[in-house]
Amino acid sequence: MARLRNIKNSNEILSNSKNFINDFENYKGKWNKEVFHNTNPIHIEIGSGKGKFICELALQNPNINFIAIDRAESILVKLSKKVDLEKLENIRIILLDASKLSTIFKKNEIEKIYLNFSDPWPKKRHSKRRLTHINHLNIYNEITSKNSLVEFKTDNINLFLFTLETLEENNFAIISKTFDLENDDKLNKQNIKTEYEKKFMEKGFKINKVVFYINKKEKNNEI
Ligand SMILES: C[S@@+](CC[C@H](N)C(=O)[O-])C[C@H]1O[C@@H](n2cnc3c(N)ncnc32)[C@H](O)[C@@H]1O
Repeated sequence: MARLRNIKNSNEILSNSKNFINDFENYKGKWNKEVFHNTNPIHIEIGSGKGKFICELALQNPNINFIAIDRAESILVKLSKKVDLEKLENIRIILLDASKLSTIFKKNEIEKIYLNFSDPWPKKRHSKRRLTHINHLNIYNEITSKNSLVEFKTDNINLFLFTLETLEENNFAIISKTFDLENDDKLNKQNIKTEYEKKFMEKGFKINKVVFYINKKEKNNEI
């Protein structure tokens, strides 16, 4: 397939892995029935990287179906090997750009979204590429059910402030937020550290986190 061309080895490894879904276009509205063969809720992580976070989460929550999404093939090979090694039955992996999510998931199909240490795209002219830009939030809105949550963590204060501003301007309801996750008793309680999180914490960075409803507040009808 076009999306796997030029990287023969990655192509082979991923094709041979049962957790990697190459024909994801076929499952819009059918992920539970045809991929997971159960009715458990589906949670996705966008930009999973090497996958430490989603693997630990999946291990702790065997009754949730997880889908790890990243647009970098070589990283997904590492994640796929980890899922195999740990024999995690409740994770599937997709090579996809976040902007395409509504082509593969139907409204109400996803119950929760995790965004961890998304690329900050610091230049203003690249702001639309940020995974918390309103264009992306609108896409997440198209695939999620009512009361679905997004959990977003970043070391990057500018990306965090941009995100909070976007949420406020567009009327998304924030449940909780912190500028210092490690010292926030409530939000840090069951925190699973990602690869980037560990790296940035070792360098002394504070971690920011916000949890919000992805369905917008209606006027006079707050969630
Ligand atoms: C900085 S890394 C963070 C990886 C991991 N979440 C962590 O915290 O260790 C960002 C990841 O997001 C992926 N990514 C960036 N933009 C993306 C997009 N538009 N769609 C899907 N994945 C994306 C990158 O390929 C990369 O693996």
